[in-house]
Amino acid sequence: MENEINLDKIDINAESPTEEPARQYYFMAKCREWVFEFERKNGRRPCFFTQTFGCQMNARDSEKLVAVLSGIGMVETDSEDADFVLYNTCTVRENANLRVYGRLGQLGVKKKKNPGMLIALCGCMMQEKEVVDKLKRSYPFVDLIFGTHNIFQLAELLYLRLSGKKPVIEVWDGTDKIVENLPSERKYPFKSGVNIMFGCNNFCSYCIVPYVRGRERSRQPEEIIREVERLAADGVVEIMLLGQNVNSYGKTLMHPISFAELLTQVEKVEGIKRIRFMTSHPKDLSDELIAVMKASKKICPHLHLPLQSGSSRILKAMNRKYTKEQYIALAKKIKQAIPEISLTTDIIVGFPGETEEDFLETMDVVGMVGFDSAFTFIYSKRTGTPAAVMENQVPEDVVKERFDRLLKKVQETGAKVSGRQVHTVQEVLVEEVNDHDDRMMTGRLGNNTVVHFPGTKELIGKIVRVSLDEFKGFYYLGNLAEQKKNR
Ligand code: 5AD
Ligand code: SF4
Repeated sequence: MENEINLDKIDINAESPTEEPARQYYFMAKCREWVFEFERKNGRRPCFFTQTFGCQMNARDSEKLVAVLSGIGMVETDSEDADFVLYNTCTVRENANLRVYGRLGQLGVKKKKNPGMLIALCGCMMQEKEVVDKLKRSYPFVDLIFGTHNIFQLAELLYLRLSGKKPVIEVWDGTDKIVENLPSERKYPFKSGVNIMFGCNNFCSYCIVPYVRGRERSRQPEEIIREVERLAADGVVEIMLLGQNVNSYGKTLMHPISFAELLTQVEKVEGIKRIRFMTSHPKDLSDELIAVMKASKKICPHLHLPLQSGSSRILKAMNRKYTKEQYIALAKKIKQAIPEISLTTDIIVGFPGETEEDFLETMDVVGMVGFDSAFTFIYSKRTGTPAAVMENQVPEDVVKERFDRLLKKVQETGAKVSGRQVHTVQEVLVEEVNDHDDRMMTGRLGNNTVVHFPGTKELIGKIVRVSLDEFKGFYYLGNLAEQKKNR
């Protein structure tokens, strides 16, 4: 665990500290007493189950939640028949919410059979007042609810719930603080996400993120570097710098620094071999960043650059602040500077007012840019966003038909462009044993394309040279090649 602290040294009979993160470590020590008590009564430790919905930011948040629960002595399980079940929710599209309600219904049935079970919800969905109201009304068996801004308070809120009988609901509207040095447990020993900023100031007209994650706040570069150094010392070779819009990193700090400068500093950390980042907003992508990426040996040749729409008219209504032509020119500039780069994107179909002509503009950009892959989404109306009250919402059947056409086009272009390294030898970071065949290993190229090859699990976490013998539409099949000395 990162930032491990000895809970034995904490005096739980003293007053609770007011400073963070000391306060949370104090409540962890208190919760641990409950765990010991549970063990004395039941002859086993309480177990917990967590489920993460949504993006990489949520995945990283969940690693911190897991560290708190493991830190107090609970045992992680992959079954929902647990003593403590925690969902870290997403609300970016309506579907994400519906999935949570569906799962909660099933949890309610389990809790009837096992009334001692504790159910907790946190994350983006909880930042919506209507959601919390509905939970109180229709799912009164939920024990603990907290939001994105006070996610660091898990230990304190859990203790509050354990020492009372009523549900605990604590959701903050916003925050300007960033709590550093909380414990964190990584899912993979060799790679890790690193938050560099929180929140978003862009207010794309369809998007709920700025409302549920709050205003943009950047971490101090020294804190980020210290975290990366710690990770490297702990055996991490690949890091993913995380933010809703990494290209505007550092602009609001007391001593402003650009994202490109931050990358230059991160690059110097010994032991780190690959640096990734996500997500880039096209409007803020600087020439300085392209130059730093081009010169770097560690920054992976991959850019996730959400297009959202190829129609300048729709882009304006989306408040994206670039045109179709500007996006195409940017993609061209990046590819010219870094020819091996892989470009991936997000596209929304069926934004209010989208006509067939607008949609064809999107198809046109997909063809022109040649994305390695794209996430395609059906527009989802989010209450409270400007787009939700726009006229001309597009009928469902029209959207579905466009979505299918786009998906086909995206897959066809992806299959054409992302196999360009076939019959070459490339470096692969080995991530896991193949899901379907345990004689095969699965890893990723620097540009993020997946590679499967025969190997053993001792290779996990290592970067090896693999000959890419065959391209299968969106992944390679390969074989270990001759390795260079001194890796
Ligand atoms: N409807 C559909 N897709 C959305 N996204 C964000 N908000 C919505 C919405 N209301 C997509 C965008 C973004 C990705 C993370 O989710 O494409 O880049
Ligand atoms: Fe949402 Fe736009 Fe911010 Fe991305 S940049 S999180 S799409 S508002």
